[in-house]
Amino acid sequence: MKIIRTCREMQAYSHELKLKGENIGFVPTMGALHAGHLELVKRAKSENDVVVVSIFLNATQFHNQQDFEKYPRTLEKDSSLLFDMGVDVLFLPTHEELYPDDYKYRVQELDLSQELCGKYRPGHFEGVLTVVLKLLNLTQPTRAYFGEKDFQQLKLIEGMVSSFFLPLEVIGVPTIRESSGLALSSRNERLSSEQKQMAAKISEILKFSQTSTEAKEQLEKLGFQVEYVEDKMGRRLAAVYSNDVRLIDNVSL
Ligand code: PAF
Repeated sequence: MKIIRTCREMQAYSHELKLKGENIGFVPTMGALHAGHLELVKRAKSENDVVVVSIFLNATQFHNQQDFEKYPRTLEKDSSLLFDMGVDVLFLPTHEELYPDDYKYRVQELDLSQELCGKYRPGHFEGVLTVVLKLLNLTQPTRAYFGEKDFQQLKLIEGMVSSFFLPLEVIGVPTIRESSGLALSSRNERLSSEQKQMAAKISEILKFSQTSTEAKEQLEKLGFQVEYVEDKMGRRLAAVYSNDVRLIDNVSL
């Protein structure tokens, strides 16, 4: 597995691959990898000649400094998982490498990004879209892979790729769940076993409630602090807090 740390080297390497006619599959991550990420890698491997994975904990998408600080950092374990999966390139840029402009230039979407998670995390999607655009420009993928668990993020990235005529395909991959129904997330590491048992009920409630209002009531009854439950884009989407851990999930309607 080749490890690349600079933007210049990443760009030169993907340019070389393109000249050779190789298809590049790209999986951007913030690390703390779990089976959900590995599913994206598996899919990328099965559909491309070369797989590039990035690990970059993107400060600009955290509107809460504490959340950023508490985000699990497990680089050694992540690298060995990716190595075992036969990933070709691991891209590990620093903040200084990716933000030479000090975040003076940003990508902003003015509609969907203001709703759902965007309403409660101001600036979050600006940070996501900006870093994803940078990473796509550096890795020049044929296909880029994102989990459906972050459904709003997936839709916004699809919109950006189409609006800026980026020459790649965005692939949404279904959410991977524990057998309990709990959607895999790097934040699950911060849940106690009791909290985990409770969190396993989220998807069930979203699926089986008649309306989003009923789902919200049920989640509150269980003890969650609910940010939102809304039916949109053919999905029922929710964000809740279990103590100080923010969890999101969505199910197809
Ligand atoms: O979904 C994530 O892990 C992040 O939002 C992403 C797409 C890697 C951008 O930092």
